[in-house]
Amino acid sequence: MAAALLSNVTDHASLPSSYVRPESQRPCLEEVITNANIPTIDLTSFDVVAQVAQACSSYGFFQVVNHGVEVELIQEMMEVALEFFRLPAEEKAKHYSDDPAKKMRLSTSFNIKKETVRNWRDYLRLHCYPLDEFVPTWPSNPPTFKEVVSTYCSEVRQLGMRLLRAISLSLELEEDYLVKVLGEQEQHMAINHYPKCPEPELTYGLQAHTDPNALTILLPDPTVAGLQVLKDGQWIAVNPQPNALVINIGDQLQALSNGRYKSVQHRAVVNKDKGRTSVASFLCPCNNAIISPPEKLITDGSPAMYRSYTYDEYYKKFWSKNLDDVHCLELF
Ligand code: SIN
Ligand code: FE2
Repeated sequence: MAAALLSNVTDHASLPSSYVRPESQRPCLEEVITNANIPTIDLTSFDVVAQVAQACSSYGFFQVVNHGVEVELIQEMMEVALEFFRLPAEEKAKHYSDDPAKKMRLSTSFNIKKETVRNWRDYLRLHCYPLDEFVPTWPSNPPTFKEVVSTYCSEVRQLGMRLLRAISLSLELEEDYLVKVLGEQEQHMAINHYPKCPEPELTYGLQAHTDPNALTILLPDPTVAGLQVLKDGQWIAVNPQPNALVINIGDQLQALSNGRYKSVQHRAVVNKDKGRTSVASFLCPCNNAIISPPEKLITDGSPAMYRSYTYDEYYKKFWSKNLDDVHCLELF
């Protein structure tokens, strides 16, 4: 089974045909805008709420600095992620599974039972909340993994709650509105590794998609760009800033904001010269949360856009489809 992992092969001489996208679906890397960037918000600035409103309605993405997650912890998180993927094949094989229902698993591509073309990516997926329940199931190698990742998860959760409060205020809702509606939120993590790729113009690390959860907090590789965001029909490269975190609105906040904030398409592209590692933390509504916008955001000028549903229904639908199918929000 572990032979399926890309990170176990040290020399990828050419791109296997199972990764080659049809011509019409390739990344067209030369057309990507590299000299623009998504907004950066300093979370200690006085007008954070106004900046959040602007970033969420224009890009659906922003980077945060002075975000309260310790710089040393960010560096340790990245280091332990790299160390994990450097482990010998037999060690990693213990964790391998293609079953998306598993709460801790190492896998490759995205959802290989559903997709027809593979992605140039390996990933370790963890459930992270409550920590007491899940940490004992996590890898014990590297030896610092559990401690570093669990500390990182708690700090990221606090940042997530702080952002959800700012997002509520930016929609002119009560500060705790979104935190309450989302309930006892689940938290998942994907530690991604994209090895260097012999033909990056023919494939993806992750093809264009929107995130099915509420809010995503991404720790990007500080040295290699690869995340790209769709803005007005153009792909924009996100240039990582030292110790910044990248935030994006997921499908659930698009629904709860009645479409004011967009869950924007993004993708990860790969690279001929360098491998890339990223750590995505996903805040997800609790399973029985009812996703329906507040009355205040439904007006004559902006009637209710989507049918309401529970997150459980949504999440099951999401995993039954391919990643690049459009989001599962049902318009009225
Ligand atoms: C993702 O969209 O989940 C991953 C993005 C990245 O690796 O930068
Ligand atoms: Fe994503």
